[in-house]
Amino acid sequence: MLSAKNIAVLGVGTLGTAIISGLLKSGTIKPSQIRGTVGSTEGIKKAEAKLNAKADSVVKIATDNLAAAKDADIVILAVKPQNMAKLLETISPALNKNQLVISVAAAVSLAYLEKYLSSQIPIIRAMPNTCVSTGAGMTGLAAGAYASDNHKQVAQEIFKSVGEVVFLDEKLFNALTALSASGPAYLYVVIESLAEAGVKLGISRETATLLAAQTMLGTAKMILETGEHPALLKDSVTTPAGCTIDGLMELEEGKLRVTLIKAVVKAAQRAQELLPL
Ligand SMILES: NC(=O)c1ccc[n+]([C@@H]2O[C@H](COP(=O)([O-])OP(=O)(O)OC[C@H]3O[C@@H](n4cnc5c(N)ncnc54)[C@H](OP(=O)(O)O)[C@@H]3O)[C@@H](O)[C@H]2O)c1
Repeated sequence: MLSAKNIAVLGVGTLGTAIISGLLKSGTIKPSQIRGTVGSTEGIKKAEAKLNAKADSVVKIATDNLAAAKDADIVILAVKPQNMAKLLETISPALNKNQLVISVAAAVSLAYLEKYLSSQIPIIRAMPNTCVSTGAGMTGLAAGAYASDNHKQVAQEIFKSVGEVVFLDEKLFNALTALSASGPAYLYVVIESLAEAGVKLGISRETATLLAAQTMLGTAKMILETGEHPALLKDSVTTPAGCTIDGLMELEEGKLRVTLIKAVVKAAQRAQELLPL
């Protein structure tokens, strides 16, 4: 479905780069199908350097949003929320209802985008995480009033090529943001801490980080591939009177569970506060 589509990524920063890198790495699209934009001429070199370090061929980056949007079948809006109004004003005259607009901006609602773009433009709101650059991203999607099943499939194909995808009610986007978009930050801290433990016990930092990160990856795969409840999988690792139960008791005493729950709830509250658009 994407092989014949031109995609404009407006705002090739951290996330825009991650999406493009992931799409190219997956082989879903060729570099010639992508045009990217940034906000400044200095930004062009930065974005090209990042992308070209990761991809085999060159993706064109410019600052002309109108030109990029006009020629695209799919327009991905990946600027910061505070730059969104200006961007929408600029590209609005170039858009028509045969195109699909996908916004990845946090705190920018479908209603806001639809009001700005008007003329029944199909819009999908997406909340990916930066792991899309590795092909193991997690993206939540919500469809606007004018997005058909076909548009939903196109958006799904884009984000499926760089990880997993769920459609969910837009009302849950703050929760989604707090859990899976902010989630890598929490889990980096967990991996960093486990690696510190390894260092404390005499393992080199490099090896300790590999042990921790690969263990996190394998654990996630166990859950996704077996479909088992995490508690049951945890039980299967915990030998009676063994060492794991002692480690788990420390986690309980340190209130790991409630801390993680509170972290996600707090981040969701913050996302709600940030909701200006
Ligand atoms: N990072 C994440 O993990 C993540 C996750 C989910 C959603 N998001 C959403 O993704 C969006 C981008 O976040 P980010 O972390 O990638 O930010 P970022 O790294 O600051 O990237 C923003 C990019 O937008 C460009 N830009 C600014 N004004 C522009 C304009 N008028 N036209 C075209 N490009 C323009 C900037 O270019 P210059 O550098 O030249 O100014 C920069 O390349 C945000 O709305 C955020 O809410 C991010």
